[in-house]
Amino acid sequence: ANVAILISGSGSNMVNLIEASFKPQSHANVRLVISNKATAGGLKLARAQGIETLVIPHGTDRHVFEEKVDAALRERSIDFICLAGFMRILTGSFTNKWANRIINIHPSILPSFKGAHAVPLALKAGVKVTGCTAHFVCEEVDAGEILAQEVVPVLPDDTESSLHARIQQKEHHIFPIVMELVASRIVKNEL
Ligand code: GRF
Repeated sequence: ANVAILISGSGSNMVNLIEASFKPQSHANVRLVISNKATAGGLKLARAQGIETLVIPHGTDRHVFEEKVDAALRERSIDFICLAGFMRILTGSFTNKWANRIINIHPSILPSFKGAHAVPLALKAGVKVTGCTAHFVCEEVDAGEILAQEVVPVLPDDTESSLHARIQQKEHHIFPIVMELVASRIVKNEL
């Protein structure tokens, strides 16, 4: 299955997905990385792995942006999309077109702590465990079907960055597994 990864930032999950796709038994073929930000550190890392990259600035009009992304994906026969630290909300017209073909990794145990501030919200709430969720993306933010979750403890002197780092280790574990699951179902025509 042909995979595109959308990023906005450093791309540690992206690198991890690309490396997983290089394994001989993988059904995932990462063909394209798109960033809405030219400064995203992940772009260089993707190129270093030999993956084509595109910068599509999000501009002001969501639909114009999404049409450009959609065209780039279709030109390359992309089967599904991994959102790996992609910090733009996708509209229903895009998520419907790609229904069951977009997966996201989120740094909390959904449905708790939706949105862009999941880690500080978990700290503020005083929860003793949190974690990450891989899920399908639908129009409602962070509300699509849950595919996998992993938990981590919240330790007494955690900061936002120490907790996020612990969560990311788990993200790096489950996201490639979920990518593989979706890729193999697409290859077998089961999706
Ligand atoms: C991850 O923690 C992910 O859960 C969130 O954004 C972060 C991206 O990190 N959506 P990276 O760019 O993959 O390092």
